[in-house]
Amino acid sequence: MKKLKVGIIGAGGIANNHAHYYRELPDVELSAVADVAQDRAREFALRWGIPPDGVFSEFSEMLRSVELDAVSICTPHKVHAKPAVEALKRGIHVLVEKPMASCGSEALEMYKAARSSGKILMVGFQTRWSPELRVAKRIVASGALGRVYYAETTLGGRRRGIPGSATFTKKDLAGGGVLLDLGCYAIDNIMFVLGHPKPLAVSASIESAVGGQKDALVEGGWAWNPESFEVEDFVSAFIRFENGLTVLLKESWAMHLETLGSPFILGTKGGLRLSPLELYRDEWGYMANTSFKLPQVDIYRERIRNFVEAVKKGGPSPIDPREIVMEMFIIDSIYESASKRKEVDVKLPAELFS
Ligand SMILES: NC(=O)c1ccc[n+]([C@@H]2O[C@H](COP(=O)([O-])OP(=O)(O)OC[C@H]3O[C@@H](n4cnc5c(N)ncnc54)[C@H](O)[C@@H]3O)[C@@H](O)[C@H]2O)c1
Repeated sequence: MKKLKVGIIGAGGIANNHAHYYRELPDVELSAVADVAQDRAREFALRWGIPPDGVFSEFSEMLRSVELDAVSICTPHKVHAKPAVEALKRGIHVLVEKPMASCGSEALEMYKAARSSGKILMVGFQTRWSPELRVAKRIVASGALGRVYYAETTLGGRRRGIPGSATFTKKDLAGGGVLLDLGCYAIDNIMFVLGHPKPLAVSASIESAVGGQKDALVEGGWAWNPESFEVEDFVSAFIRFENGLTVLLKESWAMHLETLGSPFILGTKGGLRLSPLELYRDEWGYMANTSFKLPQVDIYRERIRNFVEAVKKGGPSPIDPREIVMEMFIIDSIYESASKRKEVDVKLPAELFS
């Protein structure tokens, strides 16, 4: 059996998670790694059994020099689009970490490159394999909630949880803060469950509330540098969709509160809390709450396994990249509305519908 040759671009924290699950698969060989920090690339190669001639400091050189079937892109958000487009143009399948990119136009370029190459472009939202979200999606699609008119989405926020790596907090690497890091999940989760309704307009605000404070208390293993904190740590956004649906998004990396609550969906015939999953309906003449016994799933294992299976079959991507491009344009509109301090239209590119 010919093994799939996989390369890793960016050998930091999450790259180890990719390598761990690739290595579980007998038909995958970790063949190359590239990181601008060469020591990190070398250590990574030693840890995961990548041969010395598969270690690079330049991802372009890696893509040129090694015959790869697929790559995982685990670099800072602003360094997702370039390697993805380059790999796709060379006929290499791509698994790129979330967020897809730092803005909609980069995401669109990536999608166009995937479309012309016919190769897989999968954004690594491991949450797509969450049993709660998958069941919630089926409940919404069944019509059991009636007409869905309102939802709130959040991961719950963190009291003190700003990532220490410049990957997340320096503007030229991250592009943005908590909206890109956690907000992208909150948006993908609710869009996945609701079946990607068409977004129309956004009114939003972002704040750098705690991250820049030199005297802010830091607990729980998080250690960021307030001196070089250049992005937002709070976002709230009110998003209008077609058919009257509205969604409130809220997320925080650092706040003076335990939690921003949990996500939920309201419909005319039922409501859903997403975490933990609970269905609220009028049943048999009474108000009834249904809870679910759901399996434990290693969602990180599932994302790598499903990506590799798709590569072996030659597609399609387990996560349609057009869905995530749409979400990136919502993110653009959130930043635009926050900076203009007024509601703005979501301008979706025509390519998403052709
Ligand atoms: N899915 C998840 O659960 C999850 C968890 C953490 C991070 N992430 C995402 O993964 C990405 C990386 O996050 P991280 O925590 O591993 O960050 P990190 O800072 O630990 O690692 C990033 C690595 O990329 C390298 N790098 C930067 N520019 C490069 C370039 N031009 N070429 C090659 N390498 C380059 C850096 O040297 C660093 O080693 C981010 O987009 C982040 O949002 C996803």
